[in-house]
Amino acid sequence: MNERTVTGKKIGIIGIGNIGRSLLQGLLAVEMGRLGGEVFISDVKKENLQYFEPESRVVVCEDNKEVAEKSDVIILAVKPHDVRGVVEEIAPCVNEEKMVVSVAAGVPTRVIERYLGKGKKVIRVMPNIGARVRESVTAICTGEFAGEEDEAIASEILGAIGDVYSVKESDMDVITGLSGSGVAFFAAMIEAMADGGVYEGLPHDLALEISAKTALGAAIMILAGDKPSSIEEMTASPGGTTMRGLYAMEARGIKAAIMEAVIEATKRAREISEQLMKNAKRDVQSGTDEG
Ligand SMILES: NC(=O)c1ccc[n+]([C@@H]2O[C@H](COP(=O)([O-])OP(=O)(O)OC[C@H]3O[C@@H](n4cnc5c(N)ncnc54)[C@H](OP(=O)(O)O)[C@@H]3O)[C@@H](O)[C@H]2O)c1
Repeated sequence: MNERTVTGKKIGIIGIGNIGRSLLQGLLAVEMGRLGGEVFISDVKKENLQYFEPESRVVVCEDNKEVAEKSDVIILAVKPHDVRGVVEEIAPCVNEEKMVVSVAAGVPTRVIERYLGKGKKVIRVMPNIGARVRESVTAICTGEFAGEEDEAIASEILGAIGDVYSVKESDMDVITGLSGSGVAFFAAMIEAMADGGVYEGLPHDLALEISAKTALGAAIMILAGDKPSSIEEMTASPGGTTMRGLYAMEARGIKAAIMEAVIEATKRAREISEQLMKNAKRDVQSGTDEG
């Protein structure tokens, strides 16, 4: 990963659960001088904050509003169905200079803008929990009122904890399936490979480490330009062990099953998105929202 300077913007994170904690851990691993001072955090689950209380670069805030008041870039890391409540709560503290960065799966920028107010900057991102070791893959897109400069600032922050890809908002749901959820699919595959080794007598720790490093090697070769098919070809000699293994995988439809995992995760992100859009429309029609 390229070393980059992190913007001097004040960063806040609302929701210190799985992904909020991973983002925070990743940002805290960025050297002090490169991270613009402290990170402001809040969560309704106070035990999630305790772990970070002794951390000098973290300010544990009383509530979400305090995070919004003290930060320039407010990262929303709550479940999709909690986004509306948090956005309505912080809206009075978010002016046109600040930026709300949502990591919530399936939540369109339009929905956040509706509850935050016209003219407010919204950025939608999809990182993964690789953030905790600064190896996230993060997709980013902007809402109606955020510009290129805002995207550059958010990309700089997220670029400190992994690689960032600028995408169309319509691609966000599939990226949620591919990398947001996908990191868990790879974990399951690495575990399954290791279990094969354990079945054949290897100690569990050794099998897991060798499996993970084998996956890493394959990933590095592919990123260096090798095609997956050429890796298969170079490994599978006629009548050999790899060919037998590849046949077993094909016979069980493993490739289709893995494709299906991404397709189903994408469908679920789209379902969440459709539901939230419906709710937002219903609120407009029933007059509970001025949007
Ligand atoms: N987990 C991932 O790998 C991942 C990856 C990419 C994106 N995302 C997205 O990130 C978001 C968070 O996912 P997660 O897995 O981190 O969920 P999580 O572990 O449940 O974390 C969310 C945290 O926010 C807290 N919270 C709920 N309502 C709140 C409020 N009003 N104010 C402040 N904090 C509040 C939750 O407390 P309670 O538990 O008490 O509700 C919880 O501690 C989701 O929208 C998800 O789509 C997740």
